[in-house]
Amino acid sequence: MSSTHLRAWLAAFAMLIGLIGSASAQDKADAKADPKTDKKAATIKILLPETLYKPAEVRIEGVLTKQSGAERSFVTPPLDAGKVYIYKVEAVIEPNNYTKIIRTREVNFKAGEELTVDLRKKDDKIADDVRIRWVPTPKDIVKKMGELAKIGKEDVVCDLGCGDAVMIITAVKEMGAKKGIGIDIDPKRVSEAKENAKTSGIADKIEIREGNILKLDAKDLADVNVMMLYLGDEMNIRLRPMLWNALKPGTRIVSHRFIMGDWKPEKTITVKGEDNDEYTLHVWTITGKEKDGKFDKKVD
Ligand SMILES: C[S@@+](CC[C@H](N)C(=O)[O-])C[C@H]1O[C@@H](n2cnc3c(N)ncnc32)[C@H](O)[C@@H]1O
Repeated sequence: MSSTHLRAWLAAFAMLIGLIGSASAQDKADAKADPKTDKKAATIKILLPETLYKPAEVRIEGVLTKQSGAERSFVTPPLDAGKVYIYKVEAVIEPNNYTKIIRTREVNFKAGEELTVDLRKKDDKIADDVRIRWVPTPKDIVKKMGELAKIGKEDVVCDLGCGDAVMIITAVKEMGAKKGIGIDIDPKRVSEAKENAKTSGIADKIEIREGNILKLDAKDLADVNVMMLYLGDEMNIRLRPMLWNALKPGTRIVSHRFIMGDWKPEKTITVKGEDNDEYTLHVWTITGKEKDGKFDKKVD
């Protein structure tokens, strides 16, 4: 299909998505055939996870659709027979109030077809993107994490999703780590982190990078031997293969609250914070035996 042809009916389809979002089953049936031509509509059924913090947002070719629920159905305008149409379907899935999973699929179909796009589970061949909301770890809890990971003067400490850089600044300034590396996708957090590094007087030992931690290569973490995390179970399980591949034996991973799928922590502790809340902290050490390509299928 030429891109001109695709664009020409995209506008029509965008309108139809909006209309059909709340249409009855009869409306959908009427929309399927055009009696004056031999054109036929296609039906796209989309399956989504059932238990979510809020209904998933679905976009078809960038257009926000209106339906809700775990099973949704969209009907295209009448399409030319024999041509292959290619569509991008994107869902923003929120399993809890701090995680957004962005799941994308490209579907190919022809006029008259009924197809199902199953977005209920992650597909390791088409990686999800994930965003975690910023919630800072209190400084006294960062110190407990540092003790658990035995941070000392030989360590290069990294925080994936560093927020305002409280973890790496505390590790360098108060636990003597030789360097801190923080990576965050949010430009606002990145500039706060840089500013905080400056005002804490250790900017020469802090490196802040802007980027998506799900797009890192092993070389990005070449010097790191302590990894501090406060993300989410869904994010950790997606980071795990990269961490196993990139981190040298002896590297400690210390996580505030969240686990790593079926990779059992070496130690888990619960501590009381200065704010009187309880915090659960986990630590793992990379042994070198993790790099066996094993992947946990339990977290979708
Ligand atoms: C829960 S906060 C933790 C902040 C800091 N580590 C702490 O403990 O104070 C999660 C951070 O991860 C960042 N983040 C979320 N998704 C990301 C992604 N895909 N790539 C990079 N950073 C991300 C957010 O901008 C946020 O600053």
